[in-house]
Amino acid sequence: MIPNPLRDPRDRRLPRVPQPCALVVFGITGDLARKKLLPAVYDLANRGLLPTNFALLGFARRDWADQDFAELSREAARKHARTPWREEVWEQLAADITFVPGSFDDDAAFDQLAATLGRLEGSHGIGGNAAFYLSIPPAMFPTVLKQMQRTGMAESTPERWRRVVVEKPFGDDLLSSRQLNELVDSVFSADDVFRIDHYLGKETVQNLLALRFANSLFEPIWNGHHVDSVQITMAEDVGIGGRAQFYENTGAARDVLQNHLLQLLALTAMEEPVEFSPEEIGTEKLKVLRAISIPEDMETFAVRGQYEQGWLAGERVSGYRQEEGVDPESTTETFAAVRLGVETRRWAGVPFYVRTGKRLPRRVTEIALVFKRAPHLPFADTDTEELGNNQLVIRVQPDEGVTLKFGSKVPGSVMEVRDVSMDFLYGEQFTETSPEAYERLLLDVLLGDATLFPRNAEVEASWTVIDPLEEFWAGTTPHSYRAGEWGPRAADEMLAAEGRRWRRP
Ligand code: BG6
Repeated sequence: MIPNPLRDPRDRRLPRVPQPCALVVFGITGDLARKKLLPAVYDLANRGLLPTNFALLGFARRDWADQDFAELSREAARKHARTPWREEVWEQLAADITFVPGSFDDDAAFDQLAATLGRLEGSHGIGGNAAFYLSIPPAMFPTVLKQMQRTGMAESTPERWRRVVVEKPFGDDLLSSRQLNELVDSVFSADDVFRIDHYLGKETVQNLLALRFANSLFEPIWNGHHVDSVQITMAEDVGIGGRAQFYENTGAARDVLQNHLLQLLALTAMEEPVEFSPEEIGTEKLKVLRAISIPEDMETFAVRGQYEQGWLAGERVSGYRQEEGVDPESTTETFAAVRLGVETRRWAGVPFYVRTGKRLPRRVTEIALVFKRAPHLPFADTDTEELGNNQLVIRVQPDEGVTLKFGSKVPGSVMEVRDVSMDFLYGEQFTETSPEAYERLLLDVLLGDATLFPRNAEVEASWTVIDPLEEFWAGTTPHSYRAGEWGPRAADEMLAAEGRRWRRP
């Protein structure tokens, strides 16, 4: 077939390259920029996915010259890049990097930024297009957004696009997230706002939609007739690193439950979208988020914990309260587990057990559908003693893949049935490694594709779930757990109360 030059822009098999543009990063010297954004820009360049006319602008409070900034960027990209290092790719990119120093309340610095963008239209042919990445503390958002409004930088016109990328946390409760949304919407038009939840950029999370909606095998059993319960786990072995100040005011529920975990739940529970478009996927996710119910008995079914000193990978690690910058009497949670419901015909009565924690035994994120047991087993009880519930496990990370757990006869002369696993591993089936989440999402921003970005209403619906939990926990002390254990005992008791157990991923 002769390729059609007027190809459908939604044809995702063809590599998509954005229009000429600039990427402006506020907070370019921060952790996120160094570990994720700069390496992602390099990886995109290395894969030939950046436009030929491209410029990277860094804005931060340091008094640096372009050269220092280029050096910092190079080091960051080299250290954290996913794809092999090619000096010539970096050299080319480095020629397009500019640093604008200044503080966020400095009018002159923003005037200079606006002028630099204007200048790049001529020198780099960026066509006036620009995406602004707010990799800064949320408290700074109003100042920066107002500066962008004042200088006219936020304005999209028929000739050029201007977009803004907002990093989580999107507020710290429903009220503040509404205020933040109103503020962002008063400066940028809704279509130009991209809220990043980097879990949606993970390959396996997108595969959840493929698994469910591209196959005929799973969907008929993807409901409360067959599913006993769903377990969503996001476990981390790391502590809080150098982020005490942020974490003390945030805690596990606001940091990851409100966003990453509820998004995973929404994708697991949602109905099939009419088409694979931002609007339709967003609509289906929103329906789920609105249908989430929280437990009546919070004491049992909403558990939070905090790690104490313990052992991880043979090393002694300190407790949360002993971490640098943490209040020695802090009541911030580093673990949260909650039993949620989804009040729809498909899911009514099925518990969704969701948990996350720091300093757990290993880093693993997975979604497990635990199926009901067969209504009748025509074997002697002793033959099936080691048979558990069938399970379908989507492993988001690491060892990305899908595992199906079911019973099988143990070889031999007696009828003994035991659990076995059937594995699909990305690493074995595909030769290409998965792009980093930020690589994918950054590219989508430059392309203007909002499919993998949560919408305003989703963020607000998620806070509606979290606010009552936070209210219940306010003024209480979290249960403690030793670093290297799977959370506090109360989390196990939560499932035991209903005759279930957490998976040991
Ligand atoms: C971030 C949280 O959103 O996700 C961090 O703020 C957490 O606390 C991180 O460590 C985990 O991301 P990933 O991609 O390493 O699982």
